[in-house]
Amino acid sequence: MANEVVDHGRRRFLTATTAVVGGVGVVAVAVPFIKSWEPSDRAKAAGAPVTADISKVESGQMVSYPWRGLPVFVVNRTKEQLSQLPGLAPRLVDPDSSVSSQQPDYIKSPDRSIKPEWLVVVGICTHLGCVPEFMPMIGPEPFDPNWKGGFFCPCHKSRYDLSGRVFAGVPAPKNLQVPPYHFVDDTHIQIGVDPKEGG
Ligand code: FES
Repeated sequence: MANEVVDHGRRRFLTATTAVVGGVGVVAVAVPFIKSWEPSDRAKAAGAPVTADISKVESGQMVSYPWRGLPVFVVNRTKEQLSQLPGLAPRLVDPDSSVSSQQPDYIKSPDRSIKPEWLVVVGICTHLGCVPEFMPMIGPEPFDPNWKGGFFCPCHKSRYDLSGRVFAGVPAPKNLQVPPYHFVDDTHIQIGVDPKEGG
């Protein structure tokens, strides 16, 4: 286990990494890509669930886990970040998460999560599939003077809030997708399994 400082433009923030377990290739994203596979390579290729250890993800941090060949972002949101979410509704395309394809039915806005502090979303832009950047700091950005933290897609400048809800007036048409997941316990999330199946 190690911490590294990621230089993110004019900000710096700590991100967590874990030791590599298994031999899967790393998908290039701007955040640590944690390999915590339990299944075999063959099972992984078939899309088996992935259990993520979130015990070392500190408040305000994000880590990325591979699932079905996709990066799944897991964010430990701060209370301040969560408090920004309701007020963003007028600026969003689908503030109430009404597009059913973008989340399981147990995921509701504005936090779009099972436990409010933990956001779990597929890190693939709904425009043309780039990997958005995690930009959690609240404050003016060149692309938004009223930025409350979220995700910015560098390909065509789509923006999402810290619930993965897409802003109006950008190319991306839908919110980031929330995959099925459930909490195994307080420090482990199983991605790919609904709560009613996983207990
Ligand atoms: S792929 Fe993200 S904005 Fe186009």
